[in-house]
Amino acid sequence: MLMRLLFLLSCFHLFILTNSSSSTHPLCHEDESSALWQFKESFSISEHASDDPSAYPKVASWKLQGESNNCCLWDGVECDEGTGHVIGLDLSSSFLYGSINSNSSLFRLAHLQRLHLADNDFNYSQIPPAIGNLSELRSLNLFLSSFRGQIPLEISMLTQLTSLNLSFNPLKLHKPSLGTLVQNLTRISELSLSNVSISSEVPDVLANLPSLTSIFLKNCGLHGEFPIGIFHLRKLQALSVLFNQNLTGYLPEFHQSNPLKILKLAGTSFSGKLPSSIGNLSSLSYLYLSGCYFSGSLPASLSNLTQLTLLYLDHNSFNGQIPSLASLSQLTSLSLSFNEFNQRTLPWIGKLKKLFELDLGGINLYGEIPVSLANLTQLAYFSFIDNNLAGQIPSWLMNLTQLTEIDLSSNQLQGPVPSSFSELKNLEIIGLAENKLIGTVDMDIFLKLKNLVGLQLSDNNLSLHISNNNYSINATLPKFEPLCHDDEISALSQFKQSFSINRRASDDPSTYPKVVLWKLQGEGNDCCSWDGIECDEGTGHVIGLNLTSSLLYGSINSNSSLFRLVHLQRLHLADNHFNYSQIPSRIGHLLELRSLDLSYSVFSGQFPTNIFHLPKLQVLSL
Ligand SMILES: *[C@@H]1O[C@H](CO)[C@@H](O)[C@H](O)[C@H]1NC(C)=O
Ligand SMILES: *[C@@H]1O[C@H](CO)[C@@H](O)[C@H](O)[C@H]1NC(C)=O
Ligand SMILES: *[C@@H]1O[C@H](CO)[C@@H](O)[C@H](O)[C@H]1NC(C)=O
Ligand SMILES: *[C@@H]1O[C@H](CO)[C@@H](O)[C@H](O)[C@H]1NC(C)=O
Ligand SMILES: *[C@@H]1O[C@H](CO)[C@@H](O)[C@H](O)[C@H]1NC(C)=O
Ligand SMILES: *[C@@H]1O[C@H](CO)[C@@H](O)[C@H](O)[C@H]1NC(C)=O
Ligand SMILES: *[C@@H]1O[C@H](CO)[C@@H](O)[C@H](O)[C@H]1NC(C)=O
Ligand SMILES: *[C@@H]1O[C@H](CO)[C@@H](O)[C@H](O)[C@H]1NC(C)=O
Ligand SMILES: *[C@@H]1O[C@H](CO)[C@@H](O)[C@H](O)[C@H]1NC(C)=O
Ligand SMILES: *[C@@H]1O[C@H](CO)[C@@H](O)[C@H](O)[C@H]1NC(C)=O
Ligand SMILES: *[C@@H]1O[C@H](CO)[C@@H](O)[C@H](O)[C@H]1NC(C)=O
Ligand SMILES: *[C@@H]1O[C@H](CO)[C@@H](O)[C@H](O)[C@H]1NC(C)=O
Repeated sequence: MLMRLLFLLSCFHLFILTNSSSSTHPLCHEDESSALWQFKESFSISEHASDDPSAYPKVASWKLQGESNNCCLWDGVECDEGTGHVIGLDLSSSFLYGSINSNSSLFRLAHLQRLHLADNDFNYSQIPPAIGNLSELRSLNLFLSSFRGQIPLEISMLTQLTSLNLSFNPLKLHKPSLGTLVQNLTRISELSLSNVSISSEVPDVLANLPSLTSIFLKNCGLHGEFPIGIFHLRKLQALSVLFNQNLTGYLPEFHQSNPLKILKLAGTSFSGKLPSSIGNLSSLSYLYLSGCYFSGSLPASLSNLTQLTLLYLDHNSFNGQIPSLASLSQLTSLSLSFNEFNQRTLPWIGKLKKLFELDLGGINLYGEIPVSLANLTQLAYFSFIDNNLAGQIPSWLMNLTQLTEIDLSSNQLQGPVPSSFSELKNLEIIGLAENKLIGTVDMDIFLKLKNLVGLQLSDNNLSLHISNNNYSINATLPKFEPLCHDDEISALSQFKQSFSINRRASDDPSTYPKVVLWKLQGEGNDCCSWDGIECDEGTGHVIGLNLTSSLLYGSINSNSSLFRLVHLQRLHLADNHFNYSQIPSRIGHLLELRSLDLSYSVFSGQFPTNIFHLPKLQVLSL
C-alpha cells in the first residue's frame, strides 16, 4: 500500500515536471533556430566588446546537437509559449564583436518583439534598414553598442514600439529628424537617444505622444525653445535634456497630479524662476538644474518635495533667502553652490541626516561652521569654499567618519589645523587653502591618511614640517615649497653657529651674510626657503648649499655638522674666510656631490685626494 502510494506520488511529480517544462519551453522553429545560429556565427567573441562587469558570452552555451538543441532553451532567447516563435532576443553585454548589415539572418526573426543588443561592439556598422522588417518589435535596445551613422527611417515604421534606446552610439538623427522618426510611434513610452547627434529643435510632436513615460536626450545638440507641452504629458516620469547648451526654456506651472520623478535640465540655457507650483511634484526625487540661467528666489514650496533624494541648484543666479529644507529628510545630495543668495546661515542643515554629499560653496555664508553638521554622520563629501566662514576648524569634524572629501578653502577660518584630521581615515582630498590658519602643521597628520591624493594648505600662515622620513609621499601637495627635515635644520643651524660674520671676510662689496636671515623659529623655520639652500622637491632633503660671498669667518673641520647633509649635490663656499684651516677630507664622503666650489676662501694645507674620487663630481673649483 505504502509502495503504491509512493509510486503514484512520483508519477504525479513526473507529470508536473514534464508539463511545466513543455509549457515554458515550446519547441523552436527550424528556420528561426538556423537564423539565430547564423547570427551567432557572424560575430566573434571579444572581451573588449562589453563594458558591463557582469558581461559574459551568452551564445557560448548555445548548441545545435543533443538535448539543448531547442533554441527556445538558449540563453537570451525567448519563445512564444503558444506558437513557439522567437519573440525575444536579449544578447546585451555578451562580448559580441563584428559588423551587421541588412543581410543578417537576424531579420528573418519576423516575430521578434524584444531585441536587446546593448553593450556589444558592432564595429561601427550602420543600423540596418532591414530593422523595419521586424514589425512586431516593441522594445529595441542598442545602447552603447558601437553603431554609427544616420538612424534609418525604417525605425519610424515600427509602430508597435514602446521602448527605444539607442543612447551612447555615434549616431545621427538628421534625416530623418527626431520629429519624423517618432511621429507615428504613438505607443512609445521610453525614448532614449542620449549622445545621439540630433542638432535640431525639440519637435512639438513629442508633446503629442501620450504614452511617453521617459525622455532621455542628454547631449544631443538640441537648440531652440523647449516645447512646454512636454512637461504636461500625463504619464511623464523622467525627463533629461542635460548638456544641450543652446536649448532654452522655462518651467511651466505644474499641476497636482504631475507624476514627474526625475527632472534633469543641467547644462542647458533654461531660465526664469522656479514656480511655486513645483511643490505639486509630489513624486519628484531627482531635481538637477545645475549650470542653467535660473534666477529669482527659491519658492518655499520646495519644502513640500519630501521625496527628493537629489537637489542640485548650483551655478545659477538664484537670490534671496533659502527656504528651510528641513522637511526633505530623504535628501542624500544637496548642492546650492554659486548662487547669489543672501541667507547668511542655514540653521536647518543638521536635520538632513541622510546627506552624503553637500556643496554650499560661494553662497555668502557667515559665522562658524554650523555645529549641526556633526549630526550628518553619512557625509562623505562637503564643500564650503568661497564663503565667509570664520572661527576655528571644529574638533567635531572628526565625528564625520565617512568623509572622503572636504573643501573649506577661501574662507576666513582661523587657528590651527587640528591634528585629529588623521582620524578621518577615508579622506582623499582636503582643501584648506586661502584661510587665516596659523601654526605649525606636522605633516605626519596627513601622511597617515593612506587614501589622500590632494591637500591644499597654501595661502595661510602655516609652517610645515616633516619629522620623519619613513613615508614615501605620493600625495600631491599643490603649491608647497619642499619641506625641510628636522635633522637637516639642526645641522644647518649648527653650521651657521660655527662661524662669525666678518665684513672683512669678503672682497666683494655686494656680499651679505646669508646665514643671518636663517630663522629657526616661527614662520621662517622651513630651511628649504632659506637663502642659499636648495631642497629636493620630492623628498625635501637639502641638496644645495650656496654660501658664496657670505662673509663667513671661521674654520671647518671633520666634525662639522655640514657632513650631516648627506644629500648635498652642490656645495659652494667660495669667497669666505676659512682662516687657513685644512679642507676636511670628509668632503670626500659626500657621495652625491656634483659640484664643489671652494675658491677664494682661505683654506690651507693638503687637498684631500679622495675628493677626486667622488663618483658624481663634475665641477670642482679651487
Ligand atoms: C570592422 O570594420 C572594418 C571596417 O569596415 C572591417 O574592415 C573589419 O573587417 C570589421 N571587423 C569585423 C570583425 O567585422
Ligand atoms: C546582401 O547579400 C547580397 C547577396 O548575397 C549581396 O549582393 C549584397 O551586397 C548584400 N548586401 C549587403 C548590404 O551586404
Ligand atoms: C524585408 O521585407 C521586405 C518586404 O516585405 C522583403 O522584400 C525583404 O526580403 C525582407 N528582408 C529580410 C531581410 O527579410
Ligand atoms: C558622448 O559624446 C561626446 C561628444 O559629444 C563624447 O566625447 C563622449 O565620449 C560620448 N560618450 C559616450 C559614452 O559615447
Ligand atoms: C506616419 O503616418 C502617416 C499616416 O499614416 C503617413 O502618411 C506618414 O508617412 C508616416 N510617417 C512616417 C515617418 O512613417
Ligand atoms: C538604455 O539601455 C541601457 C542598457 O540596457 C540601460 O542601462 C538604460 O537604463 C537604458 N536607458 C533608458 C533610458 O531606458
Ligand atoms: C551654441 O550656439 C553657439 C552660437 O550659435 C555655437 O557657437 C555653439 O557651437 C553652440 N553649442 C552647441 C553645443 O551646439
Ligand atoms: C505644501 O503642501 C500643502 C498641502 O498640499 C499645502 O497646504 C502647503 O501650502 C504647501 N506648502 C508650501 C510651502 O507650499
Ligand atoms: C542633532 O541630532 C540630535 C539627535 O537626533 C537632535 O536632538 C538635534 O536637534 C540635532 N541638531 C541639529 C542642529 O539639528
Ligand atoms: C562627536 O562624537 C563624540 C563621541 O561620539 C560625542 O561625544 C560628541 O557629542 C560628538 N560631537 C558632536 C558635536 O556631535
Ligand atoms: C608611489 O608612486 C610610485 C610611482 O608611481 C610607486 O612605484 C610607489 O609604489 C608608490 N608608493 C606608494 C607608497 O604608494
Ligand atoms: C650662489 O650665490 C651667489 C651669491 O648669492 C650667486 O651669485 C651665485 O649665482 C650662486 N651660485 C649658484 C650655483 O647658485
